Amino acid sequence: MIPIKSQEEIEILSEANKIVARILKSIKLIIKPGISTKELELIAEDLMKKEGVTSAFKGYQKYPASICTSINDEVVHGIPSDKRVLKNGDIVSIDLGVKFKNYYGDAAITYAVGNISDSAKELIEVTEKSLYTGIEKAKAGNCLFDISWAIQSFVESKGYGVIRDFVGHGIGRQLHEEPQIPNYGKPHTGPILKEGMVLSIEPMVSQGTWEVEVLDDGWTAVTLDNSLSCHFEHTIAIMKNGPVILSKE
Ligand code: MF3
Ligand code: CO
Repeated sequence: MIPIKSQEEIEILSEANKIVARILKSIKLIIKPGISTKELELIAEDLMKKEGVTSAFKGYQKYPASICTSINDEVVHGIPSDKRVLKNGDIVSIDLGVKFKNYYGDAAITYAVGNISDSAKELIEVTEKSLYTGIEKAKAGNCLFDISWAIQSFVESKGYGVIRDFVGHGIGRQLHEEPQIPNYGKPHTGPILKEGMVLSIEPMVSQGTWEVEVLDDGWTAVTLDNSLSCHFEHTIAIMKNGPVILSKE
């Protein structure tokens, strides 16, 4: 069963996700060549403390860090490290989840480091746009995989690959609730969407193959062909008049 949230729960989820949006915005300002992903994590931890929230990721299935920082061919779950220093031309996905009043917030943005290539810019634009294309389908009465198909068809029409090994998810009192939300699928299939569902939609897109492998650290997923990959995530609530993005200021 996909949980339905009350108005009160959606208000707390909205606050949690607004905190995520604010922290991501602050991190954007400090991303530049020469900064390590560990420094980004320390700053994120400081901002979480100031907002009165804790990391949703630290300790989750033994994940060792407070945020995920995935560079270039890293798709998701990159672990911050003082050895990973951002360089001009990189792209880096910052995935950030928090726990606030027993509810979770979760969002991700891929940022450019310094000046990036036109092809990297296009990848970022297409991935972000695919997220919004998916969100548009998150309406009461539609089917879950209408979201998936909207993302897949848009991404593939641009010649990119949709990562299949990771999915979006419901969110609430747990970071990951039902349903799983693949970024590919058949339209008009899957559970019917209803008002009160809260979903984290997170397309991961690559310039090459959709196949990934997980590195020896047990977490970092990279594209098998080492092509550049990109990740955006928003948490949304399905309301009477359609989807409302909670992870936006
Ligand atoms: N946004 C990702 C997800 O929902 C991040 C999870 S990182 C983990 O799966 F460490 F918590 F697994
Ligand atoms: Co997520």
